[in-house]
This record gives sequence, structure tokens and C-alpha cells, in this order.
Amino acid sequence: MTFPEHLPVSRRPMPDEVPSLGWGIMGTGWIADKFCAALRDSTTQRISAVVSRSQSRADAFATAVGAERAHGDVEQMLADPTVDVVYIATPHPNHRDDALRVIAAGKHVLIEKPMGINAQQAREVAAAAREAGVFCAEALWTLFLPKFDVVRQLVQAGVLGEIIAIQADQGEWFDDGHRILDPELAGGAMLDLGTYPVMFATWLLGQPDEVQAVGTRADSGVMGTVTMSLHYPTLAQASLQTSLLGELPNVGMISGTKAMLQFDRKFYQPGSFTLLDRATGRALRYEEKAIEHAGLFHEALEVARCISEGRTETPLRPLGDTISYLDVMDDVRDRIGDRFLME
Ligand SMILES: NC(=O)c1ccc[n+]([C@@H]2O[C@H](COP(=O)([O-])OP(=O)(O)OC[C@H]3O[C@@H](n4cnc5c(N)ncnc54)[C@H](OP(=O)(O)O)[C@@H]3O)[C@@H](O)[C@H]2O)c1
Repeated sequence: MTFPEHLPVSRRPMPDEVPSLGWGIMGTGWIADKFCAALRDSTTQRISAVVSRSQSRADAFATAVGAERAHGDVEQMLADPTVDVVYIATPHPNHRDDALRVIAAGKHVLIEKPMGINAQQAREVAAAAREAGVFCAEALWTLFLPKFDVVRQLVQAGVLGEIIAIQADQGEWFDDGHRILDPELAGGAMLDLGTYPVMFATWLLGQPDEVQAVGTRADSGVMGTVTMSLHYPTLAQASLQTSLLGELPNVGMISGTKAMLQFDRKFYQPGSFTLLDRATGRALRYEEKAIEHAGLFHEALEVARCISEGRTETPLRPLGDTISYLDVMDDVRDRIGDRFLME
């Protein structure tokens, strides 16, 4: 394929192109708040109910996000007939068991990333969802953004040629007391931040045949910085880094034999990118507003689209992809001795 005149157009649905579902929100923390704001501000999806470990926190959160009902007990919410699909926004070690409860109640489920603390937990969730015939996906929101659909089309059309190198990193500073520093909550850079660069490489290239990694611990004992190299049986290599000890450039770059694609900073959030033709140096620019977590609504639209079409998985993040990137994460963690207390 020769270098295109124009970039393809994103095929992501508009908010009024999908049915309005009733959402149950599990957890009342940082990302639950962002997700509810994105639903409220950009979609016709309904926040039917929220659930917290405490009724008073559920009441306060329901008021803040405009939810119709507040529950202090998960079973109450799962019995609520207005809840079509549950968004799980609890800490990582809770995801597997929370998801299994939702699936056992026959509800569809969108689970914050990562789906489990390791690939085995994701396998258990995927098997239960398939057995129950409910929709299930990992909320790896990056893959549902319009810009990623444009990149998907460019890669599939062969515009980049054969991929030879990928660079991606995700790093930011966290204050003492944050969940990410807590060993009891499977803290460390890998599950909160490393998920993005590892997802990016495996989304483009699949399973590597060789993984190398080095890690440095934070004072609390969790893994603070991890640098990873993935080698593929093709020409490709991926160079990935994650850190909770400070800001990284948060770049995402794909180099192919025909073209290079460079995301603007924070590749995993809404934003722009540049596609550069190797032969001529010609550049095409994709512009997307850097609206940060307001862009979480795209994943909700995809879930509503899939459920309305009777699908139990989304092609944008199939369960098999979730399991296989967690296999790579497990491999990295094995190499650096990053074992969680509950493993
Ligand atoms: N997509 C993204 O950009 C993004 C960004 C940040 C986080 N995340 C993911 O979302 C998940 C939640 O992260 P967060 O930053 O929102 O965490 P958070 O602010 O700590 O919120 C987690 C919520 O889960 C509930 N919870 C249940 N059991 C808990 C326990 N044992 N300890 C603490 N809280 C518990 C709490 O609500 P109640 O007390 O009301 O029960 C709490 O507010 C993580 O898995 C993370 O990877 C995704």
C-alpha cells in the first residue's frame, strides 16, 4: 500500500447510534467518578445504580454522579432489574471475584483494567462469562478511542509496512498513601501503568518469543520502575517502560518499513498523532482533542453496541487478547520477582 492522501475516518459509534443501557457502578473511587462524568456528559447511557461497601458512601456518590439508586450491598444492586451492565471500578485484587459475582447474577460486565492480577484470574472470568453467555470485556479504554480505530485501519491496510520497532512508556508520580503504593492492593507500576505499554505492543504484535525486563522497587516495597524488551520472531522489537516514581514522556511510537507513527504525549489517552512517510518525509496529522478521561465514554458506547447486537465480546478487546497480554505481564513480573502478596 502506498502512502495515503488522507487518513481514514474513525468508525466508532456516535452516542445516539447505540441504545441507552442501565449501568451499575461498583466502587466509588477516582475512575468510577470519571466514568460516570463521561457517561453523563457525552452519552444517553443511564447510571441506574451505584454500590459501595458503605451505604453512606453509596448515597453520597449517587448524589454526586446523578445515579438513580444507591446500594450498600452488592447483591442488592445485582438484583436491581434496571441494571443491564455493571462497570467494575474496584482495586485490582477485587476484579476477578467482583466479576464472577456479576456474571453469576446474569448481568453483563465491563471490568477496569487489568481484568485480574494475573492471566489465570482473567481466564477464570472469561470462562465464566462464556459459560453464562453474558457480555464481558476489559475496560482498556485506549482501544475504544477514535484515534485507535484510525491506527487500526492504517496498520491493517499495510500503510506502515512491516513493523520493526515499538516504543511506549507510561509513568507518573504518585503521592504517599496512594493505592498504587500499597502491597495489599497488588500495587506497583505494572498493573496500573505498565498495562498500557504492554497492551500497545501485544495489540500490534501479539505474543513475543522472548521477554527481558529489569525492575526497581519503591520504598513501600512495590515495583516502582520496570523496563521491558519484547522480541518477536519477525523483525520486530518493542521497548517499553513504566514507572510510578516520576513522570515519563508517555510516548507511543510504531516504526514500520514504510512509515512511522508517533502519538502526541500520553498515547493512551485521547489525542493526536503524526504519520510520517519514510520514503518522501511527507506527514499526515490526525487531530483529536486531548480530553483526558472525558473520553471514557467511548468504551461505554462500544459495550452498548455489542450488547444490543447480542455479542458477548467486543472485537476491539476480545477476551483472548486480555488473557494473552496478562501472560506477557506475568512473564515480565516473573523475571523481576514482582509477585503479589495474594498470589
Ligand atoms: N482507565 C483508566 O484510565 C484508569 C485510571 C485509574 C484507575 N483505573 C483502574 O480502576 C481501578 C480502580 O482504581 P481507582 O484509582 O479508581 O481506585 P480508588 O480511587 O482507590 O477507588 C477504588 C474503589 O473501590 C472500592 N473498594 C472496594 N474494595 C476496596 C478495598 N479493599 N480497598 C479500597 N477500595 C475498595 C472503594 O469504593 P467503596 O469504598 O465505596 O466501596 C474505592 O473507592 C484499578 O483497577 C485501576 O487499574 C483505570
